[in-house]
Amino acid sequence: MSYNEEYQAAQQDPEAYWAKQARRVEWFKAPQSILSRTDNGAFSWYADGEMNSCYLALDQHLGTRADQVALYYDSPATGTKQQITYKQLHSKVAHFAGGLKRLGVGKGDTVIIYMPMIPEAAVAMLACARIGAIHSVVFGGFAANELAIRIDDAKPKVILTASCGIEFERKIAYKPLVDNAIAIASHKPDYTIVYQRPMLIAEMNTDRDLDWHDSQIGAEPAECVVVKGSDPLYILYTSGTTGAPKGIVRDNGGHAVALNYALHNVYGMSPGDVWWGASDIGWAVGHSFIVYGPLMGGCSAIFFEGKPIRTPDAGTFWRVVDEYRVNSMFCAPTAFRAIRKEDPEGKLAKKYDLSSLKWVFVAGEKLDSSTYQWLDDLLKVPVIDHWWQTETGWPMTAPMMGWDNPSAPRMGSTNKATPGFDIRVVDGEGQEVEANEAGNIVVTLPMPPGVASEIWQQPQRFTDAYLTVFPGYYHTGDGGFKDDDGYVYITGRTDDVINVSGHRLSTGEMEEVVSSHPMVAECAVIGSIDELKGQVPIGLVVLKAGADISEAQLETELVQMVRDKVGALACFRRAIIVQRLPKTRSGKTLRSVLRKIAANSEFKIPSTIDDENILDEIVELMNQANLR
Ligand code: COA
Ligand code: AMP
Repeated sequence: MSYNEEYQAAQQDPEAYWAKQARRVEWFKAPQSILSRTDNGAFSWYADGEMNSCYLALDQHLGTRADQVALYYDSPATGTKQQITYKQLHSKVAHFAGGLKRLGVGKGDTVIIYMPMIPEAAVAMLACARIGAIHSVVFGGFAANELAIRIDDAKPKVILTASCGIEFERKIAYKPLVDNAIAIASHKPDYTIVYQRPMLIAEMNTDRDLDWHDSQIGAEPAECVVVKGSDPLYILYTSGTTGAPKGIVRDNGGHAVALNYALHNVYGMSPGDVWWGASDIGWAVGHSFIVYGPLMGGCSAIFFEGKPIRTPDAGTFWRVVDEYRVNSMFCAPTAFRAIRKEDPEGKLAKKYDLSSLKWVFVAGEKLDSSTYQWLDDLLKVPVIDHWWQTETGWPMTAPMMGWDNPSAPRMGSTNKATPGFDIRVVDGEGQEVEANEAGNIVVTLPMPPGVASEIWQQPQRFTDAYLTVFPGYYHTGDGGFKDDDGYVYITGRTDDVINVSGHRLSTGEMEEVVSSHPMVAECAVIGSIDELKGQVPIGLVVLKAGADISEAQLETELVQMVRDKVGALACFRRAIIVQRLPKTRSGKTLRSVLRKIAANSEFKIPSTIDDENILDEIVELMNQANLR
């Protein structure tokens, strides 16, 4: 297939193009409506089709690949390995879904999943999909307060959790965290179902608590419920510019078609291939390319519980590739930076047979040239940078590895637009800029199937956040440019979202926590460059008049507060005291300038600034504190 022909076909007649792709998916009743407009001005694909996402991930394979491994669970964290076939996974999911059904969970109900990378987490997601319940997975690194915010927003009937997660050698007790979150939240779920891991048994202390296995005893295995293409499959919270996370809603129909399309065409995977999404189910990639995508596509997926380093060493990724004959993998650059730091000469990689690997995909944050070069030299297979977001659920730019002559990688670029995504670069007024000129990256509407069209229970918030800034376009929040050949280069976020170890975080959320310190008058949290994690947040803090606290003490207290309220994953470890923050004459903090100062990039002094000397003061203080 030729990129140009396919891309043009998707541009010229999106409905015909995506109707064709939909025919590659097994519907209970094929959609009559291919593309429709939603009330909030967004778009919906396959709204009236009838299907079930769990059926596509499991049941449809029972005739042809029942005994093929669906999930290879590999947990260097606990020394456990497990091979789960499609038949076995189907049975686990149907039984667990039966237990949920008996508890009164049904179509349209919400369920929060707060679990580590154990196969039961995939069982939980698929069981919800089976009975038409909407799951919302919350990443394990978030603190109780963040979980509580999501509980109040999603209002789950049930929370599914495990007794603990493992972080290197530490056990992180999840159950007390969940209890704490429920205590903080106004909404109370009916049940908490706990998977007890042998290394740490959780106390079951209320009538609400049910054991994972007990919850299924005597329950009939559940059959797949028929859902509409436009019915929500899941909610996934992601960070925006404000403190309140956005509950991105993914539909069933568009999602299934998009994943099937991406798995085969973008990632070049065929049924029976071994695929590894080396991330966590708490992120969009975990939904699309650890669980749903590879299973819907009949692959064997790696389900890895561990870290790229120290579990037991920086060769662990290569061992997994060798042991399971992984054909292709996806990973955040930060993981490769961590491996490279421990094993700069790649000696550990050379111990393993990596010949099964056809190519490696990276995304989630900027791929720096030296990591790219290192990987390219080491693996001698294409290292492919590509770009997407939680909201889109699948890549907006990538080479099509399933086709002949995929676009070659180009240093610094995340490659060309995938069919269906018409990517433009516009200035602040929404006017398109010339090739090679930087601006805001936007996508022409309508976008292809699989992309979210709603924020949970707040459809208008979706419109306001994404569709009104540049009318006619979806506003990605990323800045960058396109070169003469249409290759896209992402330079970074244009808003207050930062990317720490490939984890998307809101500085606004951290600012709310920092400002709640009794001695803080105001603050700005910005992303500073970090060699390993890409970015880390730092706090610039103005004290209240008369506040008597040392900078070191303040920093310690603020670090603890962010850890307690947002979570360890925020990696908020530095805060400095400044006399004042740069403001516009109307009193707005000039965050974009602060962002540039922290990133060591050139900045223009805005004409609206109140007092430009403040910028020199801040540069000086940040230099003194080694923060740039
Ligand atoms: N549960 C509980 N705590 C968690 C957690 C989880 N699932 N994930 C991270 N944390 C904690 C860590 O233990 C650490 O805590 P600490 O401050 O007490 O040490 C903190 O959050 C920061 O974690 P992280 O930034 O991830 O550092 P790390 O040293 O644990 O691991 C990497 C570094 C590079 C190995 C890891 O960040 C990684 O694999 N990142 C890839 C992320 C990714 O796949 N993103 C996909 C987006 S597409
Ligand atoms: P998330 O929603 O967590 O997947 O994060 C999406 C954000 O990560 C994007 O808006 C980008 O800022 C960033 N991102 C994702 N992929 C890339 C990439 N390949 N290069 C640079 N930034 C990326």
